[in-house]
Amino acid sequence: MTFSMVGIIGAGTMGSGIATSLAQQGVSVCMVDASDEALARGVGAAKKFYDRAVEKGKLSADDAAAMLGRISTDTDLASLGGCDLIIEAIFEEQSVKEELFGRLNPHLKPETVVATNTSALRVSDLAEAVDDPTRFLGLHYFNPAAINPIVEVVKGAKTDAALYDKAMQFCRDTKKTPIACKDAFGFAINRFFVPYANEAVRLLDEGVATTAQIDRVARDALGVAAGPFVVINLVKPKIMFHAQRNLGPHGAFYSLAETLAERGDTDYSFEIGEDAEGDAGADQVIADRLMAGTFFPILQELDEGVASAADIDLGAALALRFGKEPCALMDSLGREEVTRIVALATEPYGHALPESLAKVGSLRG
Ligand SMILES: NC(=O)c1ccc[n+]([C@@H]2O[C@H](COP(=O)([O-])OP(=O)(O)OC[C@H]3O[C@@H](n4cnc5c(N)ncnc54)[C@H](O)[C@@H]3O)[C@@H](O)[C@H]2O)c1
Repeated sequence: MTFSMVGIIGAGTMGSGIATSLAQQGVSVCMVDASDEALARGVGAAKKFYDRAVEKGKLSADDAAAMLGRISTDTDLASLGGCDLIIEAIFEEQSVKEELFGRLNPHLKPETVVATNTSALRVSDLAEAVDDPTRFLGLHYFNPAAINPIVEVVKGAKTDAALYDKAMQFCRDTKKTPIACKDAFGFAINRFFVPYANEAVRLLDEGVATTAQIDRVARDALGVAAGPFVVINLVKPKIMFHAQRNLGPHGAFYSLAETLAERGDTDYSFEIGEDAEGDAGADQVIADRLMAGTFFPILQELDEGVASAADIDLGAALALRFGKEPCALMDSLGREEVTRIVALATEPYGHALPESLAKVGSLRG
């Protein structure tokens, strides 16, 4: 095993999910959290996951007990002194993470690798808070981390190349599918998934269609297992608000849909009623706009070298369950049709057409 003793800081949704996954693959994990209650909840979530697998006959009771036994807990960062890899999964706040890394530094062995599970902050900025930024990178797991196979492995400006390769191998060793990506807002997957969902809210705001219609067309056009509104409600609209706002530096197209902007950080969900059959014309408008919201950011990512077309498709298929892989779909639609669609995202916002449009037809080689 590339790293045999892993520390996880933060026993919340992500930290406990990562711990559950690693312990299942034979890795010893020490979870640290500021509170004992959070640690108890984190271990409880792992136990529940293993118990359910036993009930379904996927695991033996002995194996489940061994997995749970690999997860230890502590409230003291000093307990992570023996770890080869430490994954930080605490609140998404730069100053809180930097303060934590400052306190962690004295406990690190020179060879320890430190990773952040941040979704929205720059890995290269956070790296400056550890003593050796060459030993720092992003390991961005997806929720639910116990089962979602994708991990974006994010190279910071100073991340050592050999260490980066080792982290990629660690993901494979622990039965995850790593996606190599650059340190850009949204990394490889949220960069297009969040604008696709934002575009769905824009269609609703503009009165083009109902939530149910938009979800139906999305299932058809992109082969998604669940439409954007079902997913937004699952993730919570206020999380999508933060995620889309994080993409703001990429330009005007990434501005917030009106409802997301207006309701901001409040708790609410979108009502999804009965699906009324729309006319074919309306369905085409919805499909085009959802595809524009997906294709444009992907082509920009390809221009910027954030990730490869093959990895973007892998992430779409495995992390998001897009039945139609977007780069392969663009190849099959052809350059002329994709240019028409992408213009729906560029023209209203004053963006230039992405250079990678020229490669449509052979994005996947
Ligand atoms: N939830 C998701 O879907 C998701 C997906 C990918 C990445 N992320 C990222 O993962 C990180 C964690 O998110 P989450 O959803 O698991 O959060 P969460 O609120 O569920 O859990 C955070 C945990 O960190 C603990 N914590 C906070 N400050 C701490 C400190 N200084 N020292 C020790 N423990 C501390 C809290 O007690 C809590 O248990 C964030 O950076 C988030 O952006 C979240």
